[in-house]
Amino acid sequence: MAKPTFYITTPIYYPNDKLHIGHAYTTVAADAMARYKRLRGYDVYFLTGTDEHGQKIQTRAAQAGLPPKQFLDPIIDWIQSLWKKLDISYDDFIRTTEERHTKVVADIFERLLKQGDIYLSEYEGWYCTPDESFWTERELKDGKCPECGREVQFVREASYFFRMSKYVDKLVQYYDENPEFIEPVGRKTEMLKNFIEPGLQDLCVSRTSFDWGVHVKSDPKHVVYVWLDALTNYITAIGYGSDNPEQRAKFEKYWPADVHVVGKDIVRFHTIYWPIILMALGLPLPKKVFGHGFFLAKGGKMSKSKGNVIDPLRLIDRYGRDAFRYFLLREIPFGQDGVFTPEAMVERLNYDLANDFGNLVHRTAAMLGRFTDRIVPEPGARVEQDEALAELAESTRAKVEEHMDKMQFSLALTEIWNLVRAANKYIDECQPWRLHKEGQTDRLQTVLYHMVEAIRVSTILVQPFMTDAPAAIRQQFGWTADEFAWTAAVIGMGGHGKHVAEAAPLFPRLDVEKEIEALTEMTTNQHTTAKAEPQGAAKVAPTGKPQIGIDAFDQVELRVGQVLTAKKVEGADKLLQFDIDLGSEKRQIVSGIAKFYQPEELVGKKVVVVSNLKPAKLRGVESQGMILCASEGDKLSIVSVPDSMPNGAIVK
Ligand code: MSP
Repeated sequence: MAKPTFYITTPIYYPNDKLHIGHAYTTVAADAMARYKRLRGYDVYFLTGTDEHGQKIQTRAAQAGLPPKQFLDPIIDWIQSLWKKLDISYDDFIRTTEERHTKVVADIFERLLKQGDIYLSEYEGWYCTPDESFWTERELKDGKCPECGREVQFVREASYFFRMSKYVDKLVQYYDENPEFIEPVGRKTEMLKNFIEPGLQDLCVSRTSFDWGVHVKSDPKHVVYVWLDALTNYITAIGYGSDNPEQRAKFEKYWPADVHVVGKDIVRFHTIYWPIILMALGLPLPKKVFGHGFFLAKGGKMSKSKGNVIDPLRLIDRYGRDAFRYFLLREIPFGQDGVFTPEAMVERLNYDLANDFGNLVHRTAAMLGRFTDRIVPEPGARVEQDEALAELAESTRAKVEEHMDKMQFSLALTEIWNLVRAANKYIDECQPWRLHKEGQTDRLQTVLYHMVEAIRVSTILVQPFMTDAPAAIRQQFGWTADEFAWTAAVIGMGGHGKHVAEAAPLFPRLDVEKEIEALTEMTTNQHTTAKAEPQGAAKVAPTGKPQIGIDAFDQVELRVGQVLTAKKVEGADKLLQFDIDLGSEKRQIVSGIAKFYQPEELVGKKVVVVSNLKPAKLRGVESQGMILCASEGDKLSIVSVPDSMPNGAIVK
């Protein structure tokens, strides 16, 4: 039986500047989705490319003293090498300067002209060259482009127009009948309110004031408007209008697209103009346009003039592509804006990758080395703990599928990491080293087998996001293709008796201060005038931390505790050491509040403890959690709860 198809696209990129991490974000997200669908058995076609025509490129090429094509070629090479570095698994890369595209664009224009959807008139209004978009006087914001805030030019020239108004009712009907067409749903409301309800203007679809573009066949002094040219790439790349029957069969096979992944700034083009062009051509409309949010840097939107552009290559070179890809998709819920901060990046890499995932793999391989000559043992009878881990693994796969089907990458990763953390906890609780010491060989074998299986399941599930680590882990543990299939992500489907190779830790632990310094240097550019305030609809907390979902908050366990003992830490004038009663257990916690409290006054006090914080040593004394305090300037106060609240109660 033929596999179901899945056609996914990224926008095609303007090759006028080097791409930054915001651009990489769109492509990494689309790649994760394409990989996921392939793992689920789909016949995937993943398209990306470059948008090479228009006034902006012509001007840039002229400034460089080169014919446009010559100016463009090395930039396209650079973009392709960036995608290679990021292991982007695209099936096709289209350049709008290729003949397979230009010829069809010219034909489409003629057809639309002939059928009366395009007519000749005169354009008088404003044009934003960097965005290649037209604006009416009313739409301008303080006389500038409402989208990007840059200068606009007044344009008056003979132009062809597309009769958008003719199709607008049909478009709204399509929105109504296909509630999942625009996601997240808020973007649909924006389109209706900002562009459709005020009355959709006919769109100017040709220019005469420059000539770098596809010339209108019947009137060659006009070049086709760059957005009409660019959007059409989604069908020309898969053979629409081609003379070659094989190419046309490809179009029949894959069209309509399952999803166009785009940034929020270009949702308008993809959910209004593009569907209308397709209607005029009598073609089915894409099933979904997903408009993700923006990756902002300090100072708001990344731009050369603000000097806050973050170069993806530098991050990849320093941390590796797996870490980079993981960070992009884990940090911000897909659809929302978020701010890149060095602190968040270092934390993610240290906690999630080095401490959780990397450590799970490393300690398991090390224990196999110590206890079983590196052989995965045969498991014996399962006990409750093993069952619980197996059940969690199975439900994790189901939840990952549910989130991936909605393109909620950060939620899918949260589920995978719940499993990874549960596997680490399973090891801590089962204590294989104790089983070995006590000669409980059967139990030891079962536990080691389950550890390996939890790694196998997590590694299968992480494949859409990372590419090097899964391949390396698979090789280290010697899993066959069957054992590594998506459907085999169940504990118990992996064999035993395999030899597990020795390997270096996958993700090194980073020196926090050093890395934050290095990242800060990479993300700021001294000779510019960066504005301090984030712009636009960036949803950020006052500390500059990105907004988080309830899932991220849910990972923090806060409990009521009571101070049993308190004393100063010798040789450290800022630290107090406490024994805290957490209801079911006693914890030793060290806190830097000696300047604000005398130890005696705290005994008996009810406090709030972050109880799932990884233990850390402060001046050689282990701290197993953290006491919450409020502080401002030189004031500090412990957060407390009434005495009637029992020790161990959850705070949320
Ligand atoms: N050429 C048009 C697209 C034509 S598609 C028929 C274009 N190109 S672009 O190079 O400017 O942008 C490419 C993609 O990068 C867009 O989806 C855009 O939203 C995305 N991003 C650019 N900066 C971004 C961030 N700072 N954050 C997230 N995505 C951003 O638009």
